[in-house]
Amino acid sequence: MLFVVLCMVITSLRLVTYSNSINSAYHDIQLIVSVHIDELNDVLAADGVKGVIQRLPVMLRESGDVHLYMGVRAAGEITGNLHVWPKGDLNSHRWWRMTLPYYPAQAETDIYFRLIPLDANTQLLVGYDLQGVELIRKTLGNVLLDNAVLSVVLSLTLVFLMLWMLNRHLQRYNHVCEQVMEGNLDYRIRLHGHSDQFEKLSGNINRMLDWNCVLLDTVKDTSNAIAHDMRTPLSRLRLQLRSMAETQEQPEKLREELQGAVAQLDYMVTLFDNILKIAKAESKEARTLFEYFDLRALVEDVLDLYESVLEEKNKPLLRHMTGQSIHLLGDRHLIGQSLVNLLENTLKYSPPETPVDVFLHASAQEISLQVADRGAGIAPELREKVTGRFFRADKSRHSEGVGLGLCLVNAVMILHGGRLSLLDNNPGLRVELSFPRK
Ligand SMILES: Nc1ncnc2c1ncn2[C@@H]1O[C@H](COP(=O)(O)OP(=O)(O)O)[C@@H](O)[C@H]1O
Ligand SMILES: [Mg+2]
Repeated sequence: MLFVVLCMVITSLRLVTYSNSINSAYHDIQLIVSVHIDELNDVLAADGVKGVIQRLPVMLRESGDVHLYMGVRAAGEITGNLHVWPKGDLNSHRWWRMTLPYYPAQAETDIYFRLIPLDANTQLLVGYDLQGVELIRKTLGNVLLDNAVLSVVLSLTLVFLMLWMLNRHLQRYNHVCEQVMEGNLDYRIRLHGHSDQFEKLSGNINRMLDWNCVLLDTVKDTSNAIAHDMRTPLSRLRLQLRSMAETQEQPEKLREELQGAVAQLDYMVTLFDNILKIAKAESKEARTLFEYFDLRALVEDVLDLYESVLEEKNKPLLRHMTGQSIHLLGDRHLIGQSLVNLLENTLKYSPPETPVDVFLHASAQEISLQVADRGAGIAPELREKVTGRFFRADKSRHSEGVGLGLCLVNAVMILHGGRLSLLDNNPGLRVELSFPRK
């Protein structure tokens, strides 16, 4: 597109140059012809038609210009250096063209002329041949044609250079967008210290991302601080209300109210606990607390704890794992909590008397921990949303929960460089936690 526009501009400039040169050659001819007509008009005024007929050969001789053509036709006879006369009744105010045929000592030639009536039977013709104009037309045409190839090559190179440069800059901008969208919030465009607008844009994008990080940290710090500061007084309040509810002197009605208030506080404490755990999993310092531990032993411990809870709902817990230890570098509390969250979900979202399968496999590349149930599962279009903060599917709102369980699991997996996958268990949900083996 750019190339086409450039070619059009160059071609128009060339056409303008070409037509300007031709026009100026015509203008010169008009000037010469007009000077001679003026001179002969003066002769006509002083000496009449006869005077003009006498003066004409003298002027032709004196000028010595072989391109100049002048003639007077009186009663069918031509005086001057013309041997033919234009046919028809030609307007004296216009410029005309005609071709003079070959004549001994004169090649065929085109002339540009004016026809002036001297009296009723006499006409004056003054013209100039177009050899000069033809010469300009030919030479300029050839030069422009020769240059055309060069300018097409040059403009093509220019367009490719510009597109290449633009493409390089756009790639840098796209790359930073992709990195930030993938969660690499610290990624920045490398600056080269140039003073062009692209460098300025890169600097501005970097500053904007810096500012976003500052704002994001402020929001995170504020919500974590609120969660942290609220947790202790809420826990105290909960304890006080519980001990009041347990006092036998309380009337039954008041005890029920107090138990309701304790349940509300439980919800709030869980909410703040989860917010703080997610904040811990998302903090950069969390990796400094990593240590090697036996994942198989941790999974067995959590399953032992939950087996009885599942049994209460007649849900058999089926373990599929080898007896060997699996060593993993990570945060055992956060991984343990993740497994608890998944087991809690199978309790809430799969019907009683359906089994829960837990798989633990380790290959050379990765360790895979899976929890599968036979519930309704999660619709594919909701799978991305359920790992966000506070998201709960509409049909799950009747059950207890704050919508932070899978969000924490996801944060824990990112912290460990692993992946959380929500799969189909046909029927039910199969959640897979895969840890890379470094
Ligand atoms: N095992 C499961 N089967 C069906 N739906 C599930 C399962 N686990 C999670 N979900 C859906 O994902 C949503 C988010 O889960 P989670 O983050 O653990 O929050 P919560 O358990 O507090 O609702 C749940 O509200 C539920 O709709
Ligand atoms: Mg949950």
